[in-house]
Amino acid sequence: MSSLYTATVPSNIAFIKYWGKRADAQQWPANDSLSMTLNQLATKTTVRLHQADDHMLRLGDRIYNRSDKNLGKTFVHLDRLALRFGYSQKLQITSSNSFPMGAGIASSASGLAALTLASLMAWTDSRNWDDLERHGFDRSMLADLARLGSGSACRSLFGGFVQWEAGLDPDAQRYASLFSDEHWALRDTVVLFSSEQKSVGSTEAHELAWSSPLFIPRLSGLPERMNLVKDALAARDMQALGLWLEVEALEMHAVIMTARQPVYYLNEAARQFLADLREARQKGEIHAYFTIDAGPNIHVIHEASEHERLKLWLQRRLAADHLLHDSVGAGPHLDFQSE
Ligand code: DP6
Repeated sequence: MSSLYTATVPSNIAFIKYWGKRADAQQWPANDSLSMTLNQLATKTTVRLHQADDHMLRLGDRIYNRSDKNLGKTFVHLDRLALRFGYSQKLQITSSNSFPMGAGIASSASGLAALTLASLMAWTDSRNWDDLERHGFDRSMLADLARLGSGSACRSLFGGFVQWEAGLDPDAQRYASLFSDEHWALRDTVVLFSSEQKSVGSTEAHELAWSSPLFIPRLSGLPERMNLVKDALAARDMQALGLWLEVEALEMHAVIMTARQPVYYLNEAARQFLADLREARQKGEIHAYFTIDAGPNIHVIHEASEHERLKLWLQRRLAADHLLHDSVGAGPHLDFQSE
């Protein structure tokens, strides 16, 4: 009989971006960030113990091993966890995403968080959150560990609207769900302009942040912006939130485009879409705002009451398979099965 440990972890979309690091090894970010945990866009990872010399990873219908450079982060993370806690048992891991990998919708966030949870469940024979906690892995410890795999993964450990505080030293990082998913039924419609692996990964691009002349001024303005975004969330004020979302996303892209080795994530079609969205908003046709991560796709944030109108507007411009519809969600869940 074998045991199957499963973690399903949603992706998250940052409202205040994590961009730039103060210390790479501890994944200490340059600034506090805030995100909305999604609901449908998720990674499901199932782990069972594996009687072999090395871990095995199945993604979709392909099997990967540690020599595959696209999956480097996965094996490095497993080795890190095993070494730190002294686990020698190898794992068989099956993982699937409900969205295209590497397309700028934070597959590394949900992927590395799901890997952290499912592998620790298997190593400690934990069937639920309480079991994990009894083994010393409370939610905040799990977020610390997921963060080492990929920074944005730590926020996916929580539901609703989540803040990741950088703290005064790398060990003082903190996470909190400021508002639950029930506070405000915000939606995120993702417009896919490319589902290919992006040319420059975010880990590489984070390093370049400090070389942009816009980066230090950005950091000095962020605490105030963070407060304004929190106020807008507390008041469920779509317009106030939306205007800051757009400033924040464009500022991050400005930092990326003015770095020593500039990266241009948005293609012509995506740039035109941003202009069209703003024009339609000004004309009162839609009430929606964009944000963008380090990739070519655009997240359109809006209230649930706006969804149908926005969907029609989007469908007139884009094929249905370029659109992913999601909303704020309650965070990850764990399953256990024996077969
Ligand atoms: C643009 O978490 O992917 O999505 O820590 O190097 O794995 P690593 O980077 P990653 O960076 C994500 C950056 C972002 C903004 C955000 O999610 O806050």
